[in-house]
Amino acid sequence: MQHAKDIFLSILRNKTTNRQAFREAATQLTHLLAHEVLQHLPTQNIPLETPLAATQGIAITTDVILMPILRSGITMLPTFISYVPQARIAVIGARRDEETAEAHLYYQNIPPHTKNTRVIILDPMIATGGTGLIALSLLKTLGIPESNIIFCSIICAPEGINKLKTQFPPVIHVTAAIDDHLNARKFIVPGIGDFGDRYFGTEG
Ligand code: URA
Repeated sequence: MQHAKDIFLSILRNKTTNRQAFREAATQLTHLLAHEVLQHLPTQNIPLETPLAATQGIAITTDVILMPILRSGITMLPTFISYVPQARIAVIGARRDEETAEAHLYYQNIPPHTKNTRVIILDPMIATGGTGLIALSLLKTLGIPESNIIFCSIICAPEGINKLKTQFPPVIHVTAAIDDHLNARKFIVPGIGDFGDRYFGTEG
């Protein structure tokens, strides 16, 4: 699976990749990550009948909330909905100030949940971890157990993911790469540049 992830990651990393190819590679990579995330969702054996015989299958047994972090997290949402079609969706907006690299929560809309709900946070880039900390702190105040949270990213900086793992140890992380370091502007190196700008076409 890592080999497949690396193929699409290489397309994202390449600065000559055009917008269409960037979007396609991001989507393919998100499928691979979704497969891995599914392994962390509880399932139950269910009896079923094929056209030929009675047999056993499995089904996801818990409520699932998909939580994309605006803006880049929404690029991962359609792929995840295709795997968990019944999932509720929580949207939060946390923007990092490009000058200070500090993240601020400016929007939240959280659906009903219980202590058993699994929450899958979608955010392609974990840089300083500031945005992730805001998301995880919010879920904690809502009473979601940390072990019920899966944080799905495409690339992390060691600084960011280590911060999240230190402050919220039980959270499960699914990612395609932990890169080398953050540069002075808090961009991930080698990274892929600005994910949102390249995906949405807002680069200069
Ligand atoms: N967000 C991005 O899109 N890229 C980075 O390198 C860091 C944060």
